[in-house]
Amino acid sequence: MTISLFDMSLEDARARHKNLADEIRRHDALYYQKDTPELSDAAYDKMRRDLEALEADYPELAKSDSPTQTVGVAPSSGFKKVKHAVPMLSLSNVFAAEEVGDFIDRVRRFLGLPDDELVEMAAEPKIDGLSCSLRYENRELRLAATRGDGTEGEDITNNVRTMEDVPKTLPAEAPDVLEVRGEIYMRRDDFAQLNERQEAAGKPPFANPRNAAAGSVRQLNAEITKKRSLHFFGYALGEISQDFAETQWDIREKLKAWGFAEAEPARLCGTVEEIMDFYDSISTQRPGLDYEIDGVVYKVNRLDWQERLGFVSRAPRWATAHKFPAEQAVTVLNDIEIQVGRTGALTPVARLEPITVGGVVVSNATLHNQDEIERKGVKIGDHVVVQRAGDVIPQIVRVLEGKRTGRESIFIFPDKCPECGSLAIREEGEVVRRCTGGLVCPAQRVERLKHFVSRGAFDIEGLGEKVIALFWEKKLVDMPADIFRLAEKNKKREPPLQDWEGWGQKSADKLFQSIEDRRAISFDRFIYALGIRQVGQATAKRLAATYGTLEDLKAALTKAQDRESESFAELLAIEDIGPGVADELLGFFAEDHNLAVLAALEAELTIAFYEAPQVGDSPVAGKTVVFTGSLTSITRSEAKARAESLGAKVAGSVSKKTDYVVAGGDAGSKLKKAQDLGVTILSEQEWLTLVATP
Ligand code: IVH
Repeated sequence: MTISLFDMSLEDARARHKNLADEIRRHDALYYQKDTPELSDAAYDKMRRDLEALEADYPELAKSDSPTQTVGVAPSSGFKKVKHAVPMLSLSNVFAAEEVGDFIDRVRRFLGLPDDELVEMAAEPKIDGLSCSLRYENRELRLAATRGDGTEGEDITNNVRTMEDVPKTLPAEAPDVLEVRGEIYMRRDDFAQLNERQEAAGKPPFANPRNAAAGSVRQLNAEITKKRSLHFFGYALGEISQDFAETQWDIREKLKAWGFAEAEPARLCGTVEEIMDFYDSISTQRPGLDYEIDGVVYKVNRLDWQERLGFVSRAPRWATAHKFPAEQAVTVLNDIEIQVGRTGALTPVARLEPITVGGVVVSNATLHNQDEIERKGVKIGDHVVVQRAGDVIPQIVRVLEGKRTGRESIFIFPDKCPECGSLAIREEGEVVRRCTGGLVCPAQRVERLKHFVSRGAFDIEGLGEKVIALFWEKKLVDMPADIFRLAEKNKKREPPLQDWEGWGQKSADKLFQSIEDRRAISFDRFIYALGIRQVGQATAKRLAATYGTLEDLKAALTKAQDRESESFAELLAIEDIGPGVADELLGFFAEDHNLAVLAALEAELTIAFYEAPQVGDSPVAGKTVVFTGSLTSITRSEAKARAESLGAKVAGSVSKKTDYVVAGGDAGSKLKKAQDLGVTILSEQEWLTLVATP
């Protein structure tokens, strides 16, 4: 039946609009959330077209909550952030057979295993896609999330529901809570077809299947994701309510039985030789596989060992990725330019004649520093071999001297900052030349701002490097606190952001909202955001865990300026903080302009007290522990790692602040000091009982 639209009164049209919209929403829910569609695609599409036709004639009905404006998912300005129940990690890398041997030796040493004990590894391809965590509750898919920064990702459930090889329900034997970690990827043929469609539609093609998969998952319209043929395979577990496997291999088998795909081919290997044999065979098969892989992953097969091994910073000790060698190509180096980083480092960047390396067009490569240019003997105009491996910045491997014409020119490294003209100096023993302009140097100021909003820091949606650079140029932001004054400032600005080219009321409001959302920030992110040299995310977390609040951190660092003080000793007692990092920290807190940056930020923000993750109600959370003497059933590193994962601080020397001293065999002066100070002393067995998981 065709309705002649203009025969309808506005009232009738409104009623029909409501009926159609409600029906479409109901079918969306059946399709996306319950996975039990009642309509054929064609019938559903017809309903949508009818609704669109109605709105074309009665534009007043096309409100923002209409299904024509939202499609499938609830109206959303982006993806909701979700915290992972168990952090999502990445992997360490090895590149050669001997490093594989080292990896196994490290596992052996950590667990204190004898040389003849078999350490079995489950080996499988490393597929190049994006990691995703699927959470099932009562055997139903409840949540799919991206890795994000490892602690917090984005809710992509609606999109993942459209993927065929993600089971929506699990059989009765699966545990009540199950998180399957795995990789979303796109096959080569689907990638080629997608790019053909992109180009036919006049849109830019994706650089590689990985980017295409990531771009497809991040579609607000789940229907687009559905059309992109994405695949998923499971490779590890997150939170589970009940153990159901003893080995990594069992996990693979169970997941397969429950409807998941697994990376193939896979093999259990007992020795380095077997591992290398598998690696070689995968390398040979690589060109023929219908998906792109960038290496092979080895995982300690025994799960009880995996648990004991735990992780360092962001990667498990029980797994590593054996990467394939980088891909290379030859091109001409047209010029060398100097970039000034956030900490003033002058980095030479090679501008190359664009060339495709391993499927990606490369036009820049890093030259690292002055010595590197000299060591490689690079001249402007040279033919050079460039390589790229995974996501790393392309590098120049060597110069093809045979191709020289004599017209190449030597690059002279500047001794002035190209951005601000300040002297650039290279300190004794340093490889890096640095601009001495500090915050006078515009490059350093803007780079600091970029770092401030980066992923591990404030991670403000819609405020990436490009937008910061633009705001900087337009003098909207100068120091970090200005970001939080943007909305106010914009009210008085002519023209306001919403009138700029490429912006509108919606995108401006959205940006201001995401800035508002970040006014409350965790303490570790805050520390990391400051961009203090050598203070990465792991160190920021440790500082946050040790000092708890900004006030305490500032007080401690002020006192620690006196290197004889107890505060200084306490700073050095924090894991991974050596004299170098301590110098940077003290230097930062001694500068007035940095204190001004801090004060301005404090006026805008609420900084949350840091709570160390995953410590639960462990009896050692927040306690300071010293290990001394030789332990028999676990190694010192394992004991230390385990204590830290439970939220304890492990110190190297005994003081009044020590809560426990764990004394192994032949404990000496530390035990004596503990006795003198009246610190609680535990035997190895008592310690193990204390930290045993209930
Ligand atoms: S195991 C705790 N197995 O590679 C992390 N990861 O570069 C355990 N990846 O974050 C990861 N294929 O997203 C594992 N067969 C595989 C993999 C794989 C691809 C990804 C994963 C990881 C990244 C690290």
